[in-house]
Amino acid sequence: MCGIVGYIGSKKAAPLLIEGLKRLEYRGYDSAGIAIIGNKQILTKKDIGKIEEIHKKINLIDLNGNLGIAHCRWATHGSVCRENAHPHSDCSGKIAIVHNGIIENYNELKDKLLAKGHKFRSETDTEVIAHLIEENYNGDIKGATLKALKEIDGAYALGIICSDEPDKLIAARNESPLIIGVGKGENCMASDVPAILKLTNNVVFLDDKELAVLTKDNFKVLGLDGKEIKKEITKIEWNAEQAEKSGFKHFMLKEIYEQPKAIEETINGKISNDDVVLKDIGLSNNEISKINRILIVACGTSWHAGLVGEFMLEELAKIPVEVEYASEFRYRDPIINKNDLVIAISQSGETADTLAALKEAKKKGAKILSICNVVGSSIARESYSVLYTHAGPEIGVASTKAFTSQLIILYLITIYFGKIKGIISKDQIKNRVRDLRKIPLQIQSVLEENKYIKLHSKYFYKKANALYLGRGINYPIALEGALKLKEVSYIHAEGYPAAEMKHGPIALIDKEMPVIVMATKDDRTYKKVLANIEEVKSRGGIVIAITSEGDKEIRKRVDHTIPIPQNSYILSPILAVVPLQLFAYHIADLRGCDVDKPRNLAKSCTVE
Ligand code: M6R
Repeated sequence: MCGIVGYIGSKKAAPLLIEGLKRLEYRGYDSAGIAIIGNKQILTKKDIGKIEEIHKKINLIDLNGNLGIAHCRWATHGSVCRENAHPHSDCSGKIAIVHNGIIENYNELKDKLLAKGHKFRSETDTEVIAHLIEENYNGDIKGATLKALKEIDGAYALGIICSDEPDKLIAARNESPLIIGVGKGENCMASDVPAILKLTNNVVFLDDKELAVLTKDNFKVLGLDGKEIKKEITKIEWNAEQAEKSGFKHFMLKEIYEQPKAIEETINGKISNDDVVLKDIGLSNNEISKINRILIVACGTSWHAGLVGEFMLEELAKIPVEVEYASEFRYRDPIINKNDLVIAISQSGETADTLAALKEAKKKGAKILSICNVVGSSIARESYSVLYTHAGPEIGVASTKAFTSQLIILYLITIYFGKIKGIISKDQIKNRVRDLRKIPLQIQSVLEENKYIKLHSKYFYKKANALYLGRGINYPIALEGALKLKEVSYIHAEGYPAAEMKHGPIALIDKEMPVIVMATKDDRTYKKVLANIEEVKSRGGIVIAITSEGDKEIRKRVDHTIPIPQNSYILSPILAVVPLQLFAYHIADLRGCDVDKPRNLAKSCTVE
């Protein structure tokens, strides 16, 4: 869960690398560093802290040279200290390396290298690779790296430079994302697309166990056996501006505001004449008709999307669904039958747990349909077919627009499956599509309530705890609201099905406890939720209710209301989650938290 970037060309490398690295900082921000080849020597600068803080201290961009690598770290092996920050080098100081991933046999390799006299300066698994390359080096950095990689077990995305070969940048990948950016008279590599968009839109996605040799004018991709592999160049549609904050204080806020547009992009091309057309579904009508069960695997917010999807698919398409934490799935020998479909949901498409679950399901013969935001990501490429959310780059660590776009895709899949299975009639589809078309404008109207949501937040930002309650399809939204609050504001928050409260959590309620309740009128359990609100109020709790516009009655019963427009029950989560995102954002901002880079978190968890 680190970010790496590399550049070779005619321009000064350091400013470009640091610019790119800043766009990867969502991947890790406990330390950062850079290594440049200048005057046939490797010049390195690194320290702990965020890139900007380090730059202020030691100026990261004044190193001269046209070839370099850089890294932002999210510690896995070894504490957060300067010595453990990347780049790392070999004993001679002629080889420098940046790494994202985990080397599983590093202890064994380190013992071997220590016995041969290598001197280590850090506690990291990464440094082992630098020494292993040195051990194999005979004037050919590509050959030495290939030999070293054969001895390594584990995940890696690597950038390697060698001062004896100042015309080459080496990139290598296994189970950690890595792309090559193909420019004119310059080439680059990075963990993710936003890092290179200022240089080029032409990208090559490296696959597992591939190594690339980049020169100023060329690039070559090889397998670990040294044989050349022909790779396709993909044109990325995002531009650098889309990956900027465009005047918003934080990416999280910008991305919350982008939801109407993101949803339009998600729907685009999937609806025609009031019908749902999923050309990329990759499953024949016959295969769809035979689906007996759907298993959804995902993590975090994407897992919450899966829980909403379970409601949609069971209710409208009448297909039994199980939603699994991807991290647990592969460790319990899951039963997968011939007519099961596995749906993997992931914004980044790089979450290691989801990728591992998908591979496990594939091994057992399942067909995998994935829902991803990042085009060409590992999960997308491992899947039988992919439906992209097209929500645009999501940089804030807290997932917002990716979540609502995932819900849209799940809704479309539901209608499509229901249609093929003959469960949803043409008229019903028409009505469902009409409901869907209202969503972007309805979200817009929730966004217009932002200043009131901010006002409500002022009452709560000093609280230590919060409880989120919802029922039915809005229970996952209670979970998502609680996750958003805890990850960005560090306030302890729990999501519960409202009726479960009396089985335990009710003991927590007192006048210090804010309780956020999903209480929209389209919810079939509205009356029951009102009863749950009474239970909270009679114990002194403070209730903030997400209500339907025009519901005057509920205002008398609660302390604060945040109204949202009405739509169908099945689509209500997409509207209900937006005020919760804004609420979490404002509370975190009022508490002075680093909203886009919450402590201990990283945007994509590329380690298991
Ligand atoms: O990229 P993915 O959707 O696979 O990521 C899964 C989770 O790591 C992610 O949703 C995480 O929970 C977010 N920080 C939530 O805001």
